[in-house]
Amino acid sequence: MASPRGEFSSRFGFIMAAAGSAVGLGNIWGFPTQAASNGGAAFLLVYLFLAFTLAYPALMAELIIGRHAHANAVSALRQISPNRVLRSIGGGTGVIGLVVASFILSFYAIVAGWMLAHCLAALTDLAGMGAASDWLTDFSFSRNLVFMLIFMALTVGIISEGVQQGIERWSSRLMPLLLLSLVLLVIYVLTLDGAMEGLRVYLLPDFERALAPGLIVKALGAAFFSLSLGVGTMLIYGSYISDRENLPVVGGLVTLVDICIAVLAGFLVLPAMYVALNSGVEIFTAGGALISEDTLIFTVLPKLFDSMGLAGIGVSLVFFFLMTIAALTSSISMLEVPVAYTIEEHGVARKPAVLVIGATIALVSTVILLNFEALFGLVIAVTTRYSQPLLGFMFCLYAGWVWHRDTLLQELRKGNAGVEHSLFWKLWPGYVRVFCPLIILLIFAQSLLE
Ligand code: TRP
Repeated sequence: MASPRGEFSSRFGFIMAAAGSAVGLGNIWGFPTQAASNGGAAFLLVYLFLAFTLAYPALMAELIIGRHAHANAVSALRQISPNRVLRSIGGGTGVIGLVVASFILSFYAIVAGWMLAHCLAALTDLAGMGAASDWLTDFSFSRNLVFMLIFMALTVGIISEGVQQGIERWSSRLMPLLLLSLVLLVIYVLTLDGAMEGLRVYLLPDFERALAPGLIVKALGAAFFSLSLGVGTMLIYGSYISDRENLPVVGGLVTLVDICIAVLAGFLVLPAMYVALNSGVEIFTAGGALISEDTLIFTVLPKLFDSMGLAGIGVSLVFFFLMTIAALTSSISMLEVPVAYTIEEHGVARKPAVLVIGATIALVSTVILLNFEALFGLVIAVTTRYSQPLLGFMFCLYAGWVWHRDTLLQELRKGNAGVEHSLFWKLWPGYVRVFCPLIILLIFAQSLLE
């Protein structure tokens, strides 16, 4: 039989866990670097608009279905379906979601491993161990493999402790630490020469760039990735929320925290780039474009830190530590998706389920590392640019059309008796039914035409 289900012990615990899932490499690395190369504030505006109008309603769809079903995505989508055909499609969507979540973790663990390696490199620098630092910061199969495995082991360790002792406890510890180190870094970087130029680029919109084709689909992908949507992560976290909670409010808080941290990270990364430029580091390619997104953090920032002497080592340590914990509170939420399904649907105990699934995903990561050029970018594009919005589309259809409106309303009433008079109930049902699916499809169609 399935083991008893976990539940978050408090509203704070849930918000830390869900915001911990949402806030990750996507916010602190992806968002600022995309903003930097796509018109600064203009990208920010498109992103904010999509986050509130599309991602928040889609997040609510997952949270509400999850809490109602008190189950993983596969059985939740089946539960709310009125007939056999819809039940099969729902179950299928859930299964695809958990496969996509596992693939996302397989590349995420590789990137997170790099962060961890750079964090340790600051320590070996401090100890004067140059050769070790070189190994830690140079791109090699051995380095990549070792740190991917260490990071997966950390993720497995936390998830095997369960919802309250693992996810909630670690998210509540790590998230405040993350916020503190981010704020300290922003303050420090803003005092350096050149930072104001970065601020200017970040805050003055370049609308020509923002209307460039392909930008909206990127911003949509970024918003979905950032809120961990489409693969059942938020659905499973929703299923661990107590019935007393007011879902639209907690979902709104999670969205706000996520967006604020992305915006705050922009205040760190863009000024830092221009500080680097100011101290002689190349940040533009020969063609005048910004250095490509994926290498920015591992080339520009370390050079900047190097040029800062001893203080640079400290800043580097804090920065990559911050990236590592942001990644960890996200990776646990990815692993929980296949794990919860296996526990609940196949009656396996948590520890063996976590071990077997964790090892399988590490194996997939190893295959990606062995064929890095061919697979790394491909897996990212297939999972985040295409699968996530399309699966998000399915979740909206299930919340909007398949699920009976009365049961949905009852679910929302649990934590908020007057919800049918609220603005949320006036707007949201129409949103998930029509607006969200339509816009997702439109943006998608446009991206295929390019
Ligand atoms: N949102 C996280 C980030 O911004 C990543 C993440 C966690 C995620 N869980 C997810 C992405 C599930 C997609 C699906 O880095």
